[in-house]
Amino acid sequence: MSYETLLVETRGTVTLVTLNRPDALNALNSQVLADLVAAFAAFDADPSQGCAVLTGSAKAFAAGADIKEMQAMDFAGMYGGDHFAGYLRFTATRKPVIAAVSGFALGGGCELAMMCDIIIAADNAKFGQPEIKLGVAPGMGGTQRLTRAVGKAKAMELCLTGRLMDAAEAERSGLVARVVPADNLLAEAIKAAETIAGMAPIAVKAVKEMVNSAYETTLTQGIQFERRLFAGLFGTADQTEGMAAFVEKRPANWTGR
Ligand code: HXC
Repeated sequence: MSYETLLVETRGTVTLVTLNRPDALNALNSQVLADLVAAFAAFDADPSQGCAVLTGSAKAFAAGADIKEMQAMDFAGMYGGDHFAGYLRFTATRKPVIAAVSGFALGGGCELAMMCDIIIAADNAKFGQPEIKLGVAPGMGGTQRLTRAVGKAKAMELCLTGRLMDAAEAERSGLVARVVPADNLLAEAIKAAETIAGMAPIAVKAVKEMVNSAYETTLTQGIQFERRLFAGLFGTADQTEGMAAFVEKRPANWTGR
């Protein structure tokens, strides 16, 4: 399957999705959104694929929603058309997605990275929510996900001033899992994705749901949800296999059942 604004390739069990609008620094227009939704639905439905990496170019993961496309929009189009609602379908992806961020991840680009499950950043990465400078505000989850990731003080400062934060600050403040040299970014992200894709597929989906539920529930409800889902994993063949493999000192052979 080919896409107008994305390059999609499979590398064994890992799907690599590259945003491909280099002339616009990967600005996220409607076509990118449609392509992302289609590509990640296909990834999720393919049993041979265990984890995805979403990346951009060396200069920009994505420099935001496409300002030239948004410029002429009015309230009716934005609100009535629920312009960015498609991203809800991207975040419904059940298998893990790693954002490999090099260069600018601004506005919608930062928000897209935060919709992924893990962010690995190149040492040249820059994150920010500069929408305030355009007379608007983040609209794809920036005020919510950034606040949960880095806390109110820094999120408020970044969203109100439009200041960019570099990779080191992003790691210090908890936005990114790891910073790696720019030249190693893709190799490191794919290695992490291969590790995840090598785990029991149902347990992987369960962990993603469990961690994400920490954003949605009280501690008591979250812990109960985790315990119930944990118990459910004892109904899988892969639990039997994983524990037998440990006891028998051999690699596990997952079936995804
Ligand atoms: C459309 C963009 C763009 C964007 C860059 N380009 N960002 N086009 N939308 N978000 C285009 C430029 O117009 C230019 O095209 C080309 O990409 C290269 O960009 P330059 O500005 O020439 O590059 P540089 O001088 O290196 O500066 C890089 C930059 C700057 C600092 C990242 O491009 C920039 O500030 N971009 C906008 C960042 C931003 O405000 N993002 C938030 C967008 S609002 P031409 O044709 O001139 O060569 C948003 C809302 C999210 O994301 C919420 C939605 C619900």
